[in-house]
Amino acid sequence: MTSIHIAAEVGEVAERVLLPGDPVRAKIIAENFLDDVHQYTAIRNIWGFTGKYKGARVSVQSTGMGIPSISIYLHELIHVFGAKKLIRVGTCGGMNEDIRLRDVLIAQGSSTDSSIVRQVLGGAVNFSLLADFDLLSTAVTVAKDLNLPVKVGNVICTDLFYNDYDDVNGTFGDGKRTFNDKLRAHGIMAVEMESAALYLHAAAAKVQALAIFTVSDDLWRNERCTPEERQSSFNDMIKIALETIIR
Ligand code: HPA
Repeated sequence: MTSIHIAAEVGEVAERVLLPGDPVRAKIIAENFLDDVHQYTAIRNIWGFTGKYKGARVSVQSTGMGIPSISIYLHELIHVFGAKKLIRVGTCGGMNEDIRLRDVLIAQGSSTDSSIVRQVLGGAVNFSLLADFDLLSTAVTVAKDLNLPVKVGNVICTDLFYNDYDDVNGTFGDGKRTFNDKLRAHGIMAVEMESAALYLHAAAAKVQALAIFTVSDDLWRNERCTPEERQSSFNDMIKIALETIIR
């Protein structure tokens, strides 16, 4: 074992890594999309697999949920195992009228209420958390080639899945708009919980990163995907991510 949370030997993890939160999703991706698969870790049941996609070595490492959890796996993947291209494949909650359940979204930017940027860079700058431009433009081209629609824009990466405070879900400041309304007004497409860590750690390590999501919850209409509905859009997202990561 060569890192604390990933029980792999150096060389067992590929330079290209897909990052779902859920270990079961990691297994489904490995079994349905990759050849010659082997599982390299099961610590805490946070599973990781390496296989081949169209002949190229690709790993699928689950990360758990939220910035602290994904930060642990990102650190070890990048600094112990030498990961160079990382694509998160996750779910998100749509926040705008034009975002629908099962849409595939790509985070060009990630805004966050987390303190991680301040912890790393201090408070003098509101650092822009950005997708790697080459991965982003490749993913958009791949999606066009596959005839799969995607929406590209800014997301909010939050530390709290459940946030009952009045200034988020109730009225905010002027007594009329909620905090989510203000995010919507600034074009935020969706809410999720990991992309800020991915873009921050990738920038610091000079590796390439991209976050792609399917919309599993619609916070605008208060609707939610059934598990079956999640699966079909999930497969489209995985195809885009895999074709992107091998190009
Ligand atoms: N909030 C935060 N993260 C999420 C959500 C949500 O509603 N849905 C999927 N990931």
